[in-house]
Amino acid sequence: MNWVVEETYESLSERAARLLLATVRNKRDARLGLPTGSTPTLMYERVSEICEERYVCFAGVETFNLDEYVGIPKDHPSSYRTYMRRRLFDHVDVDLDRTHLPSGDPEVLDERFPGVPFDKALALECHRYESMIREDPLDLTILGLGRNGHIGFNEPGTAFDSVTHVVVLDESTRKANAPWFLDRPVPERAITMGLDTILQSRKIVLLAAGEAKRAIIRRLHDEPPSTAIPASVLERHDDVTVIVDREAAGDLAL
Ligand code: GLP
Repeated sequence: MNWVVEETYESLSERAARLLLATVRNKRDARLGLPTGSTPTLMYERVSEICEERYVCFAGVETFNLDEYVGIPKDHPSSYRTYMRRRLFDHVDVDLDRTHLPSGDPEVLDERFPGVPFDKALALECHRYESMIREDPLDLTILGLGRNGHIGFNEPGTAFDSVTHVVVLDESTRKANAPWFLDRPVPERAITMGLDTILQSRKIVLLAAGEAKRAIIRRLHDEPPSTAIPASVLERHDDVTVIVDREAAGDLAL
């Protein structure tokens, strides 16, 4: 893994935004794997701003988000689809039909798989999503990092060869994500790309910012890969860049 330290969260976000845009400029039909969470919010803001200043064409781009909650409507204010619309999709000329997230919305799944019981429909949805991603490798996948080392919603203990699947969220993850949910508790389940799904991407960038990520960044840097730290699966890939800000790096010698 290549490690890069940026002094501030702002410069980390700028760097990530430029990487994303370089991928789109180099390949008009780029396939991108995209994260949610608080870390990439400024990256998306910068992408939107830069595109406003100097048009970058997203018309041929196809996006695949890492994960989505189960059991909330796709247009709920706390869904990851809503997050993506607000922060990126509504600000660039991407074709919404080419923006993909796995769906955990009962209404969508009922339409997609009529008459199939919900849990079975979720399993079919995971398979559908995985197949779309496997059609052609993603060109760039950008990841955030959970405090427990999760990427996507792959919690500690997830097999390194996992594919898109339904997860029961850790209590710590539900707590960390509670501020995004004002009107209801954080859902108990989510659909996530698996660790092996993520590894299929041609290039991977992991972002970690802030003091809250310092401990897990140190472990990721120092410890041998193990399922106790899902992000450590990235050691198996030959084009991974970890971008951390100074707060997350702490006194790590990089
Ligand atoms: C969430 C998301 C992850 C994200 C992680 C870190 O649970 N599902 O994809 O990377 O948390 O989030 P944050 O950037 O808010 O710390």
